[in-house]
Amino acid sequence: MIYLGVNIDHVATLRQARRTYEPDPLWAAAEAHLGGADAITVHLREDRRHIVDRDVELLRQSVQTKLNLEMGATDEMVGIACRIKPEMATLVPEGRHEVTTEGGLDVAGQEARLKENIARMRDAGIYVSLFIDADPRQIEAAARVGAQACEIHTGPYAHAFHEHGRDIESAAAQAELAKVGAGGTAIRQLGMRFNAGHALNYVNVQPIAALPGVCELHIGHAIVSRAIFVGLREAVREMKALIREVA
Ligand code: PXP
Repeated sequence: MIYLGVNIDHVATLRQARRTYEPDPLWAAAEAHLGGADAITVHLREDRRHIVDRDVELLRQSVQTKLNLEMGATDEMVGIACRIKPEMATLVPEGRHEVTTEGGLDVAGQEARLKENIARMRDAGIYVSLFIDADPRQIEAAARVGAQACEIHTGPYAHAFHEHGRDIESAAAQAELAKVGAGGTAIRQLGMRFNAGHALNYVNVQPIAALPGVCELHIGHAIVSRAIFVGLREAVREMKALIREVA
């Protein structure tokens, strides 16, 4: 079975657009849960542009599946994670000016610091995943720094698929899909869990879900976008059904 982590940041984005109290990500988490989400993901950004500390505190108390805290590898965030104790933390690179996470974490370029941060979180009982590009150098570094899982950045695959006529047989989509698959094999050979996510949607998810050994998919924007029209519970249910068809 492939687990689906639903990222609800954009519910908070809508709330913050008015600096008000609705829609509440807590309600979104409950709806996602009822639709079959296996985990709830929130990204507590340094600038608190969508999810704020209050959300993480309350979600920690109410999420009954798995809470996945996406975060930059900073001392502040590691401190928050060790106090809140989500089941899982996913370390991502964070840029103040980016609209969303743009690329994978440079693990190889900061091994010592990451090793220390990961050890602190693992000691607190948190399962640690790193969001990385499908790059063998980064995968090997992830194993060295003590990551338990790697989430392969599926953005390049999603982009190639979209740009080449939404044709999975296109050479560009196939090449990017093969990179994600090879990354997954390397991750598993090094004893880590193979997760994937970013820019996955209702038309591009199935080839990724069909890759051997993929354990979790993390999806946000497409699900929250569809939820505007069909409701979040139904949007999650539809994504779960597509994944189940091929996995
Ligand atoms: N995984 C990671 C590490 C992310 O940073 C994001 C975006 O917040 C996602 C998955 C979900 O990406 P999307 O919103 O494009 O589905």
